[in-house]
Amino acid sequence: MEGLRAEGSLGLSLVAEHPAEGLLGMVAFPPLVLEGEAGVAPKAVALAPLAVRPEARRRGLGSRLVREGLAACRADGVALAIVLGEPAYYERFGFSLAAARFLASPYAGPYFMALALRSEGEGGSWRVIHPAPFAALD
Ligand SMILES: CC(C)(COP(=O)(O)OP(=O)(O)OC[C@H]1O[C@@H](n2cnc3c(N)ncnc32)[C@H](O)[C@@H]1OP(=O)(O)O)[C@@H](O)C(=O)NCCC(=O)NCCS
Repeated sequence: MEGLRAEGSLGLSLVAEHPAEGLLGMVAFPPLVLEGEAGVAPKAVALAPLAVRPEARRRGLGSRLVREGLAACRADGVALAIVLGEPAYYERFGFSLAAARFLASPYAGPYFMALALRSEGEGGSWRVIHPAPFAALD
């Protein structure tokens, strides 16, 4: 995360704070560049990182961070969100492997999902350029 922040590419981010317990969780949506032949690329973000402190998990904080973050991205004109994670967790927010099948990425595979937030984000064939700090997460 420090890499993304240092690069200035953390994008929209939200934190969950409790008056007594302090910082309990966070999510960020760094912008992604999409490249392709087919006209103007839609505005896209990654969903990463997402983390909730172990003692605060299973209270719905992770879901709330994701849902409120995606709504804020949509309001900001973002058309496509991409995530690399467990389908069993992210499918509840509408992410799917199917929506990512036309996207080319070094991370494409069984954990690479997408969610169209606006109609421009549906069905395009794009090459996804991830921020450089992602390579450090391998
Ligand atoms: C994933 C994470 C953010 C979820 O936060 P949370 O506040 O517990 O999330 P919620 O309370 O909204 O949802 C919890 C549900 O997600 C499920 N879940 C959590 N991690 C999961 C995973 N890897 N795969 C499938 N389901 C998962 C829990 O079993 C729970 O299910 P239930 O509601 O049926 O009991 C948290 O577990 C975490 O920080 N994990 C470590 C970091 C991480 O894995 N981040 C995601 C990287 S892809």
